[in-house]
Amino acid sequence: MSEIRNYWRTPADILGSNDLSCSYYELMGRYVGDGLIKSSLDRGAFVRPHDVLGGTPLDWVSARSNSFAYGPEAGDYQTRKAIADFDNERFGISYDIENVTMVPGAWSGVNFVLEEIFSLVRGQSAKGRLLVVGPTHYPMFHRAINVLGIDVLGMDYVVSSTEHVPTTVEDLQQMLAIRPKAIFVTNPNNPDGLYFPSSLLRTLIDMCSREKIYLIIDEIQDFLPVEDTKGLDYGAWIQSPWVVRIDSFSKKRALAEYRVGWVIADPHLLRNRISGVTRRVSGLMGNAPRAANTAIIKLIEDWRRSITTGEDKFAPVWKELINKERYVLDRLRDLPGARVLRREAAISVTVTLPFYGSDLLLAEELMKHGTLIMPCGGYGYNSSDTVMRVTFAERPEKLEHAMDTLETVITAKLRH
Ligand SMILES: Cc1ncc(COP(=O)(O)O)c(C=O)c1O
Repeated sequence: MSEIRNYWRTPADILGSNDLSCSYYELMGRYVGDGLIKSSLDRGAFVRPHDVLGGTPLDWVSARSNSFAYGPEAGDYQTRKAIADFDNERFGISYDIENVTMVPGAWSGVNFVLEEIFSLVRGQSAKGRLLVVGPTHYPMFHRAINVLGIDVLGMDYVVSSTEHVPTTVEDLQQMLAIRPKAIFVTNPNNPDGLYFPSSLLRTLIDMCSREKIYLIIDEIQDFLPVEDTKGLDYGAWIQSPWVVRIDSFSKKRALAEYRVGWVIADPHLLRNRISGVTRRVSGLMGNAPRAANTAIIKLIEDWRRSITTGEDKFAPVWKELINKERYVLDRLRDLPGARVLRREAAISVTVTLPFYGSDLLLAEELMKHGTLIMPCGGYGYNSSDTVMRVTFAERPEKLEHAMDTLETVITAKLRH
């Protein structure tokens, strides 16, 4: 029982996590501004927009007679249709455009959905609890607590001896026992990319549907799965009126700068430009930039082709990334006391490091030596456990610089 109690995180813990992330970004700004940073394993853009389509955004839109234009017209419909059709093919379901709303990035998608579920109207939200299953990107929930005023509880699988994701039906029962109005999960999670076990997810959906609890699934990290992983592994069961799926190409195809993502859910929640989630987005976003809509449709076509023909134009990119991961793992293996957590997807290696101070202190020490590596206190880990997220999508010389720096800092501190 005491082990179970270790899982819970209060709103104060969640805001503390968020503060840690913000402090990290503040520090980063200062060191970058001073010109001290020589390498960054903080995130990573393994492809560039021009790798996705060739040419420049202006070439892509002018080359088409039916460019997916600004405004709530053809662009929006065609992009939503492409997203729905692709998922119908992948998972044997039957979405149509009424099941898809475009949002300015997955992060704000989560927040628009929460506004709707918790009925934010004229400054008042309905009472209710959101359960956030972690480790995950806690900064996304600062608005839910501070702006929506809802009761956000965390359930973190970051205690040692756990697998970082729920593993038993008892874990699911613990989630429902606190009677949330909505549950948020990442599939796979951020930072270490573990998938929510598919059979448990299906059980959780059944349980949530019975109890009328929304299950919000953030799929943004679903790419570069390790070889024996089945990826999302959904069937028709994923299409429930109580399931809300959120995604974007920010990470999968390194297109974060477009600030565009999508929400897939039942039409009763998404509705239209007069009410529902779509109404909440309408006007703030209108339609995604033409270049973004064009890129999304093209990327879906490429992805679909890679599944049907086995020919993936990003295959060389994935191969290169795996080699980079191997390099990072080799370097970490040489660091005394480093403990690497299992990765199932995405482009980061998460590692617990021996250090006398907090993860933020270690991050600052690394900045002083010219590199950026993200502290995982922002994902619910205990800051004093010094868990760091090493993103390996970086040029080889930068990777080498960052790993040399990490080695220097850790071994120097170990000698103290
Ligand atoms: C789990 C998760 N979802 C969403 C986002 C942000 O998505 P977007 O760039 O599409 O807003 C992040 C960014 O770090 C994330 O970690």
